Amino acid sequence: MKNKTQTLSLLFFLLFQFLCFNHVHSWKKEEFRTCHQTPFCKRARSRTSSTSTPLIATDVTISDGNLIAKLVAKSKQEETQQNTNPLLLSLSVYQNGVVRVTIDEDRSLNPPKSRFHVPDVVVSEFQSTKLWLQRVTQETLDGDDSPSSVVYVSDGFDAVLRHDPFEVFVRDKSNGNTRVVSMNSHGLFDFEQLKGKGECDDWEESFRSHHDKRPYGPQSISFDVTFHGADFVYGIPEHATGLALKPTKGPGVEESEPYRLFNLDVFEYIHDSPFGLYGSVPFMLSHGKQRGSSGFFWLNAAEMQIDVLGSGWDAENGISKLPKNRVDTLWMSEAGVVDAFFFVGPTPKDVLKQYTSVTGMPAMPQLFSTAYHQCRWNYKDEEDVEHVDSKFDEFDIPYDVLWLDIVHTDGKKYFTWDNVLFPNPEEMQRKIAVKGRHMVTIVDPHIKCDNSFPLHKEATEKGYYVKDCNGNDYDGWCWPGSSSYLNMLSPGVGLGGNYVGSTPSLYIWNHMNEPSVFNGPEVTMLRDALHIGGVEHREVHNAYGYYFHMATSEGLVKRGDGKERPFVLSRALFAGTQMYGAIWTGDNTAEWDHLRVSVPMVLTLGLTGVSFSGADVGGFFGNPEPELLVRWYQLGAFYPFFRAHAHHDTKRREPWLFGEGNTELIRDAIHVRYALLPYYYTLFREANTTGVPVMRPLWMEFPSEEATFSNDEAFMIGNSLLVQGIYTENFRTGNIYKGGATHKLAVTEESIAVFMRAGTIITRKDRFRRSSTQMTNDPYTLVIAVNSSQAAEGELYIDDGSSFNFLQGAYIHRRFIFKDGKLTSLDLAPASNGNARYPVNTVIERIILLGHASGSKNALVEPSNQKVDNLILNSPHFGFKGKTHQQ
Ligand code: NOJ
Repeated sequence: MKNKTQTLSLLFFLLFQFLCFNHVHSWKKEEFRTCHQTPFCKRARSRTSSTSTPLIATDVTISDGNLIAKLVAKSKQEETQQNTNPLLLSLSVYQNGVVRVTIDEDRSLNPPKSRFHVPDVVVSEFQSTKLWLQRVTQETLDGDDSPSSVVYVSDGFDAVLRHDPFEVFVRDKSNGNTRVVSMNSHGLFDFEQLKGKGECDDWEESFRSHHDKRPYGPQSISFDVTFHGADFVYGIPEHATGLALKPTKGPGVEESEPYRLFNLDVFEYIHDSPFGLYGSVPFMLSHGKQRGSSGFFWLNAAEMQIDVLGSGWDAENGISKLPKNRVDTLWMSEAGVVDAFFFVGPTPKDVLKQYTSVTGMPAMPQLFSTAYHQCRWNYKDEEDVEHVDSKFDEFDIPYDVLWLDIVHTDGKKYFTWDNVLFPNPEEMQRKIAVKGRHMVTIVDPHIKCDNSFPLHKEATEKGYYVKDCNGNDYDGWCWPGSSSYLNMLSPGVGLGGNYVGSTPSLYIWNHMNEPSVFNGPEVTMLRDALHIGGVEHREVHNAYGYYFHMATSEGLVKRGDGKERPFVLSRALFAGTQMYGAIWTGDNTAEWDHLRVSVPMVLTLGLTGVSFSGADVGGFFGNPEPELLVRWYQLGAFYPFFRAHAHHDTKRREPWLFGEGNTELIRDAIHVRYALLPYYYTLFREANTTGVPVMRPLWMEFPSEEATFSNDEAFMIGNSLLVQGIYTENFRTGNIYKGGATHKLAVTEESIAVFMRAGTIITRKDRFRRSSTQMTNDPYTLVIAVNSSQAAEGELYIDDGSSFNFLQGAYIHRRFIFKDGKLTSLDLAPASNGNARYPVNTVIERIILLGHASGSKNALVEPSNQKVDNLILNSPHFGFKGKTHQQ
């Protein structure tokens, strides 16, 4: 295949494509519940506006800076028949266009128990951005008989509580007061209130051989949310499906399951399905040509199901004549409360900023963790580790982290070592560390029930385990056999005590934290299991893994005396995960379709704040043909988290095992990532300060280019690089590449198509070493791609790559500006940033100017007035193959 020129169709801003649906092999569908088999989902999905109980808002007032109201059934008769109490609604407004609405039962009326409010997701800084509401105005909306309550959000937006029927929305004042995001515009709001169990009530539910006692009965909540002026909606990971969420219900839509948010360990998941995978982030963004972007987040950790309703859908007797260009959605959750956030946008980046102002900014990763990771289930012993490590050197391939899967432990007891296979773990880690490399071991939340295991003994004695519905320590089956599960809501539970055999260069991998229970319903924990304070597992399920990830990450910070940034990879995720580490998309398969779906999966994670994510390069299950493996490296080198991993039944597939030609291609792909590390690190810092992800859908950078809205084959890295993967063996032919149209161009096996955007500057390091750590003092190359005005801009962020000193100002952040034939640089670090400094010894050794019209090869370096006469001028097609700077 080498040197054979092939072609692909580059979807550059215009081409519109949907994934084709292929359902395959061994995914065990029957092990998972459908909406129909899930009573709350079945009830909610079959409700129409005429079968729902209409609610009205009464007693509206301002209290403690919030707008508060009661929601009562419109007809007294309904209220008595259904034996319901008024619900309490509270609406608060925050800076930068965020509105929060909570709806809960009135605790003063003594419901059988308090419903669960998800703790530790909303960051404390957010609370301080609250705008203290002083007054509410009454206004009668067009077509209404009764008034609505209106409060100020910003100069551009108001929040409105319509009383009769109850509806909440944010409206755009500069656009004729049109709605932006609204809740209950179709009257589907339903809140099942807790009540005492009557003699005839049969609340138990069964699925296959499992029984759920449901001692509190039905407690679900559902409502419709409309995104106005939107063409598409995105987000709500984690599903293996396209980026723009396809309708699941409505006219002309082949009815499918709703998108399920329920953290599950799914064996051999298929590549295009709304079924829930390992993580859940109940946050959706919309985008449309007319209005730009808006967002909606429901902070609720119970099972959720979300329908995206096809255009023309009507909740039957639709209560308002909403304009057509909108996307309607239906949100259904098994338990919890309404704790909903509306984000006004209007740009996609604004929505990300607003969402991460609530759930936290993505953590600044250690630099080494943004480089290449080598993993396998399992590197079997110390000799194997030494062998793999030395082969990377022999083949001149850089890597930064070597991973150990479950087999390294003593009988799957985490924080221990198998002393036959790994007799000298500290020495092993030190040998790796001298090359600037690191290691990672796995730590899961299930603890082996073995009385000789101190961790188990301690957790049992201190009552740190989740209980079953009878109050005994919950016992489930996982890797170690009989296991108990740490109660992550319990104040005493933390991780990172005395890890014998570890060194400071060892980091952690969490998985099975959905939590996965092999003998549980749908391979997870019983919903009626109990956490501290009587919280039922059903209420906290989707956040369980998040709390475990958080505890691991905090444990690592403690290990480094609060000075070193942690690195923890997790499989389960929830809203806020971005603050604690990286995510990978779990057990994918070595198939072209899985390579392709990895792009929308990673993009979707980024759109919900989780910027640091990637898929297993090569595919976890199965043996990739060499061509697929090479293409996966070429694409995976652009994932924010870049790790190769494989199942223990697969053939070994380290980069040098497929013949010289393929080794060279894989080496080149990895080199691309290493060269781009300064650019990636700068983007990670951007994510850390703004929430804007490293890997972005095209429409985030080109929000008015309609053709990009559903394109998930190509993506942007930052604002500068456009990457188009190759997802098939057979390429299409063509030529040309300029914005605003579909283009075809020739590519070879040597690389995938990467374009640098005109008008941008990126930084590279072009010397390849064994690891990123060894590149610290290497000089930079600036690549300048000028636009039609012969100008370009770009940034570079540098710090020590590992400590928290950057928070005190120990960093360098420059903006490079090329204009009128001159390159200058501006200091972007705010003066108020603290006194710490980051001293660097590195220089810019090379400047590559792309697309410059003058053709001049001379430059003058000021202030020394040094003359340079070998400026490198290049063609606008930006490729990394070989030494680009020598072209
Ligand atoms: C399942 C994980 O997703 C996979 O990455 C890991 O290798 C195996 N469990 C064994 O720990």
